[in-house]
Amino acid sequence: MQSQATYNYKVVRQFAVMTVIWGVVGMLVGVICAAQLIWPDLNVVEWLSYGRLRPLHTNAVIFAFGGCALISTSYYVVQRTCHTPLFAPKLAAFTFWGWQLVILLAAITLPMGFTSAKEYAELEWPIDILIAVVWVSYAIVFFGTIVQRKTSHIYVANWFYGGFILAVALLHIVNSAEVPVSFWPMKSYSAYAGAQDAMIQWWYGHNAVGFFLTAGFLGIMYYFVPKQAGRPVYSYRLSVVHFWALIFTYMWAGPHHLHYTALPDWTQSVGMLFSLILLAPSWGGMINGIMTLSGAWQKLRDDPILKFLVTSLSFYGMSTFEGPMMAIKTVNALSHYTDWTVGHVHSGALGWVAMVSIGGLYYMIPRLYGRAEMYSVRLINTHFWIATIGVVLYIAAMWISGVMQGMMWRATNPDGTLTYAFAEVVKDTYPFYMIRLAGGLCFLTGMVIMAYNMFMTMAAGKASDAPVLAPAAGHAHA
Ligand code: HEM
Ligand code: HEM
Repeated sequence: MQSQATYNYKVVRQFAVMTVIWGVVGMLVGVICAAQLIWPDLNVVEWLSYGRLRPLHTNAVIFAFGGCALISTSYYVVQRTCHTPLFAPKLAAFTFWGWQLVILLAAITLPMGFTSAKEYAELEWPIDILIAVVWVSYAIVFFGTIVQRKTSHIYVANWFYGGFILAVALLHIVNSAEVPVSFWPMKSYSAYAGAQDAMIQWWYGHNAVGFFLTAGFLGIMYYFVPKQAGRPVYSYRLSVVHFWALIFTYMWAGPHHLHYTALPDWTQSVGMLFSLILLAPSWGGMINGIMTLSGAWQKLRDDPILKFLVTSLSFYGMSTFEGPMMAIKTVNALSHYTDWTVGHVHSGALGWVAMVSIGGLYYMIPRLYGRAEMYSVRLINTHFWIATIGVVLYIAAMWISGVMQGMMWRATNPDGTLTYAFAEVVKDTYPFYMIRLAGGLCFLTGMVIMAYNMFMTMAAGKASDAPVLAPAAGHAHA
């Protein structure tokens, strides 16, 4: 009977399909926000106004799209590399429905204006409790699978997924400590006050970047890049150094979000210092990913999945070079409050997070439906180019407008008065908002193409679960 055991792909499939659907929804809301910044008349009713849709966008793309991509791929990778089906399948099914409920509640309460006003942690207290329950269940399924593994070592992708799961549990529980005031309307007050509240919020915020938007996606990178390239990871030793250096350093960098505020000055300097150090482990990881292709570079020419994966690593390298620069106090004095930050965010979010997820999903989806490849490889290629053009338009526009805003705001006349009125700066920003909108529309179109390709693959194939493989002697990379 042992030989007939299969991996639990059902929950992987569910999360994978929802990743693409939430990707389309979340990015559509991003496009609407981008349009509202150009045409204020698009704020038709209060619950669809910019102030409510913006947190809906960030929550949808980070936690619905990104979250489903991470949970889906981690369930796939942990089973295959541990050569065992998922631990506690019923709990795994609960994580799917529980997470979709969280997303649904976010989609209802954020437009209603219920918010704890903490960025990336806006959801109110009853939803916070549900998130904690689902997340702990996810941790039990993931680590339970690791415990019952049939291999002696734990493949490096699982280290990154595991680090991400533990850190997000810690971050969410500590930052969301709050005193409930009422259930309806949902309202609570933070357990912390003043500068401490700000400090904890940005310890959370930056590590949401470091663990949710980075460590988890590095898990995707460490499994799917070697798989698609057909090569082993460039250096296992580097991957271990990369892991420990990254998770240690990220934890200290949060105060770079609060330069020149009421935070004690020395904490700001610690934040800046650790951000500069962070360049090293980030680039170590990027190099490990890209060098995995050495000897297989020719595959890049006609493999669009590999193109997605390698391009995502290039954007990861770019945004983790830019981030440390922006963390230098004097640079931050210019960049903070400007569109430069928004450009940095999306070079990481679209270029790195979305592209690495898309690459991983294109590898995984056909295998979940008993097919060798996606319905159309040509459409993957179209998606790749339209998405790349979209990211470049988006971030180039934001860089230029960001630096322009910073320079115009600080320009003074010889008598000390400001050279430009604020409204003049806003006016000069419009052309760049138009370019960003065009870039966003390109990226969104790519996601719609992906959704079509996915549904056609599902229609042509059949949901199927692969048999559990016996571990090969020597390595566990299945
Ligand atoms: C079609 C694609 C997208 C478009 C058009 C878009 C558009 C926008 C817009 C207009 C804003 C508000 C900017 C502002 O406050 O001035 C924003 C913010 C944000 N978006 Fe996106 N977005 C897209 C995709 C994504 C993705 C895939 C992610 C994450 C994985 C993401 C993460 C964020 C974050 C974190 C912010 C807040 C930035 C900050 O506070 O500095 N976006 N987006
Ligand atoms: C070495 C790595 C990185 C460092 C040191 C870093 C540093 C920074 C700095 C200094 C800011 C501006 C803070 C401000 O002025 O308010 C920022 C903002 C941000 N970064 Fe990064 N960054 C890094 C990588 C990334 C990556 C890979 C992403 C991924 C997607 C990302 C996402 C964000 C987001 C979402 C914000 C906006 C936060 C907000 O104000 O809402 N960062 N980062």
